[in-house]
Amino acid sequence: MAYNILVTGGAGYIGSHTVLQLLLGGYNTVVVDNLDNASDIALERVKELAGDFGKNLVFHQVDLRDKPALENVFAETKFDAVIHFAGLKAVGESVQKPLLYFNNNLIGTITLLEVMAAHGCKQLVFSSSATVYGWPKEVPCTEEFPLSAANPYGRTKLFIEEICHDIYRSDSEWKIILLRYFNPVGAHPSGYIGEDPRGIPNNLMPYVQQVAVGRRPHLTVFGTDYSTKDGTGVRDYIHVVDLADGHIAALRKLSEANIGCEVYNLGTGKGTSVLEMVAAFEKASGKKIPLVMADRRPGDAETVYAATEKAERELSWKANYGVDEMCRDQWNWASKNPYGYGSPDCTN
Ligand code: NAD
Ligand code: UD1
Repeated sequence: MAYNILVTGGAGYIGSHTVLQLLLGGYNTVVVDNLDNASDIALERVKELAGDFGKNLVFHQVDLRDKPALENVFAETKFDAVIHFAGLKAVGESVQKPLLYFNNNLIGTITLLEVMAAHGCKQLVFSSSATVYGWPKEVPCTEEFPLSAANPYGRTKLFIEEICHDIYRSDSEWKIILLRYFNPVGAHPSGYIGEDPRGIPNNLMPYVQQVAVGRRPHLTVFGTDYSTKDGTGVRDYIHVVDLADGHIAALRKLSEANIGCEVYNLGTGKGTSVLEMVAAFEKASGKKIPLVMADRRPGDAETVYAATEKAERELSWKANYGVDEMCRDQWNWASKNPYGYGSPDCTN
């Protein structure tokens, strides 16, 4: 019998790509999303891409903090596991509006966990972030590194990781996988789904993409005096389809006995600088990206990339794509959808 998976935040960037891989893998998939940072067009496109499997997707526009509505979703379907993406993720906004972030991310998660427990669903995959490594003393970052948070967004990730450990300590029937994502970029190779940030993008590649399609005049490079190969920050960029597949690997792991509450990095293990990433994108797109060199962005680390051995060993998962494919697919999505899922008049 097919597994039933609940995906919170499944209309968003990583969620929509993961829902597609779930459907193609034969899972029945129910999405709850309040569409605060997503469009239902993404899920319509996922359905089309999934072909015959598209019929196995159900969507509820529900806010996780709306407990009665969430109860109804659990009353309708007996879930084998939950993949929990839903949350707010803009670092700068979290500094301006910490209560909004604590309310949405923490209360949303606690409500979800309460409803899961009440319905006997005790298998969870949670979206954590490499942000919990702060400015690491050395690289690659292993899962055992000390953790810290430089902003309220990062603190919600740390708190939720701790909450998950406590839940497992209190009740060993729970099986929880905390996935620490490095820097997801790119889009599905069809160019049909991709990242569609609202407002001015915070992250590098969505910004580069908007420069390439003429929506922004230039990229500001934050910091040129780091102790890195070319002075710019180094990150571990991972193709969003590889990341999505990491969730299928995590679900497979949940079916093993006694896994407890475990943490895995999802990255490639390779560091790429801002200038290297821009060069790869220029090559893939044939577009020149004008640059303005600027000071470091407060809170930014110099070099962050993942140790990948634990995920390779225990999840039998490894990223396949390199930066050239990430940029090719990012450009394919951007050139086909210069205004994301919207139209020029509804963006800024
Ligand atoms: P996203 O904003 O595209 O997706 C999140 C989805 O959650 C959105 O569709 C939004 O509408 C929904 N949502 C938010 N609050 C909700 C609530 N209270 N109830 C119901 N739905 C709600 O973001 P993403 O890039 O796909 O990220 C998914 C998860 O991965 C997030 O938890 C994020 O913090 C984490 N993460 C993302 C990155 C990244 O670079 N994209 C890196 C590390 C971790
Ligand atoms: C940022 C967040 C982090 C979050 C991650 C993924 C901060 C301080 N950190 O990390 O918490 O988990 O996104 O969502 O915001 N860059 C530019 N110009 C730009 C944008 C970025 O030069 O316009 C540089 C940055 O300085 C960095 C690199 O590009 O060196 C990657 O930046 P970004 O995509 O924002 O990711 P992170 O800094 O890793």
